Amino acid sequence: MQRQALAWRREGRSVGFVPTMGYLHEGHLSLIRRARREVGPGGLVVVSIYVNPTQFGPTEDLDRYPRDVRRDLRLCREEGVDVVFLPSDASMYPGRDRGDYSTWVVEEQLTRSMEGSSRPTHFRGVTTVVAKLFHLVLPDVAVFGAKDYQQAAVIRRMVRDLNFPIRIVVAPTVREPDGLALSSRNAYLSPAERGQATVLWRAIQEARRRVRAAGANGVAAGTLRRMVERLVAGCPDARLDYVEFFEPESLRPLKRVARGAHMALAVWVGRTRLIDNGRLR
Ligand code: PAF
Repeated sequence: MQRQALAWRREGRSVGFVPTMGYLHEGHLSLIRRARREVGPGGLVVVSIYVNPTQFGPTEDLDRYPRDVRRDLRLCREEGVDVVFLPSDASMYPGRDRGDYSTWVVEEQLTRSMEGSSRPTHFRGVTTVVAKLFHLVLPDVAVFGAKDYQQAAVIRRMVRDLNFPIRIVVAPTVREPDGLALSSRNAYLSPAERGQATVLWRAIQEARRRVRAAGANGVAAGTLRRMVERLVAGCPDARLDYVEFFEPESLRPLKRVARGAHMALAVWVGRTRLIDNGRLR
């Protein structure tokens, strides 16, 4: 991959990159289309498919994470992707099976809250694999989904702090007609759980409504948190992991929430952990 990327660089070709863990859905396809637009005619689009083991905790769903590489390859072909990069564990983490893989990329501020506190080793895995993929694919521009809001903020910070010459684009979340954000993990939901999974979107909508109605003074974060807890409690198979109201750039938590703030939440629906977020505009 890196040899090919260096050859493209010598030819002056522009490379757009979409890193994924596969099991592609319309959300991924929208990132691929965005990458194509960003590089323009003559540019190249690379998609990586790699279920990165180091971003899963020991009790998480690495083994059952949905995979369908044949279908993914077909979808990439239909979207006109130039290269699909499918690295192996052995090439991404040489020596890890013997316990001698020992270099990590760690962001220390934006990863403290939300996904970082619920999943303590998650972001170390994400920043490490994304840094490695950037070194292998050498893209000019990389496209990430807004559904993983904190992840996108952490990647931007990593790119700034470590001087990667890569432009990061964050593309909007794609939703089902009832508001559920597309995610590969939606495949785990039973029909009853699928119905309850709209609670994340309903919580965002209700928070938006209340923040709008409150005007300049805003609403206490505690009041909004209790509203979200009540909505989730109304779903028999759902359990709130966290809900946070924060300043969109620094991710600093807010005590009072007014328009322009951002919210993010994680909810277990049965055995499936779903995340979502939205600007309170
Ligand atoms: O968002 C994802 O799918 C993953 O976290 C990523 C960026 C591909 C890294 O494994």
